Amino acid sequence: MTVLGIETSCDDTAAAVVVDGTLVSSVVSTQLEHAEWGGVVPELASRAHERAIVPVVAKALAEANLSRSDLDAIAVTVGPGLIGSLLVGVSFAKATALALDIPLVAVNHLDGHLASLYLSEDQPAFPHLNLIVSGGHTQIMKVHSSHESALLGKTRDDAAGEAFDKVGKLLGLPYPGGPEIDRRSTRGDSTFHAFPRTRLKGYDMSFSGIKTSVLYHLNAISEDAREDYLREHIDDLCASFQEAVVDMLVAPVKKAMKDHRIRDLGLVGGVSANSRLRTRLSEMVSGLNGRLFVPPMVYCMDNAAMIAMAGYHQFTSGVTAPLTITADPSLSLA
Ligand code: KG4
Ligand code: ZN
Repeated sequence: MTVLGIETSCDDTAAAVVVDGTLVSSVVSTQLEHAEWGGVVPELASRAHERAIVPVVAKALAEANLSRSDLDAIAVTVGPGLIGSLLVGVSFAKATALALDIPLVAVNHLDGHLASLYLSEDQPAFPHLNLIVSGGHTQIMKVHSSHESALLGKTRDDAAGEAFDKVGKLLGLPYPGGPEIDRRSTRGDSTFHAFPRTRLKGYDMSFSGIKTSVLYHLNAISEDAREDYLREHIDDLCASFQEAVVDMLVAPVKKAMKDHRIRDLGLVGGVSANSRLRTRLSEMVSGLNGRLFVPPMVYCMDNAAMIAMAGYHQFTSGVTAPLTITADPSLSLA
């Protein structure tokens, strides 16, 4: 079974091929035009996807040594994401499936992130928990099988990655703020300032309060003194903020693992690149005699390998989509 996966939900145009459950090619073209705006500009994103989709798919097929006629199905991200971006991938996938007369598989982007764990040889046992943490999503899933999962908790406002990026902007750091805050934190003192941790009942999370408290902390310093203060303490502020975010992620995951008596934990999505989050989760999981699974960095960020893999599992369990499907920007995973 040969499945082409297509991902265009945000600012990465990606295509990949999975043959009989094994990844054979993966191409990602990341849009660079958003950096100067400090965030993804939806209109620029959809136009860039239109320019990139044909060459990116051609490259994925070429790297797999395959032609279109070898494909058995096309899997595409239908949501959640930016509507204009999603539509480019969905329209391309529908047209190609129609032209080749092969089935279409509709993949939820979050199911794709869950499937990024199946790209490695060493895989978690079922059921396992998975913390999906990116610029758009922060949620804890209980994963029962390769195509069945249940939502345990999620952020009620900002995603954790969004908080990193917004605080990066407040501190005058380049976009995206996450990797830069991570780097600076290694040189900073995480006990420099105790930003408040929001703890909700159950497994839900909230990251809008911490962003506001960083803003208030900076506003409390007179404008004349702020530049010097930041020059001296920016690394300490990064470390203090990061520690608070990590605390707010680790606590509900630990509670969910204990309550559900689960030992294996997956960590996926862009923020899984965060070194402190990895360390803290790995310590927490070891304390529960469990194991932490994190995909290789290239598959933590948005990519089509995970979409092709999720699509392969759906397709081989008989789930396909009609050509009438459309993009759903607010699709959730329940
Ligand atoms: O999954 P992703 O590539 O795109 C989506 O948002 O779906 O994740 C991007 C997010 C950004 O918010 C970025 O700041 C964050 O992941 N990120 C990090 C790190 N690397 C990427 N956040 C914290 N620490 C990092 N090392
Ligand atoms: Zn994503």
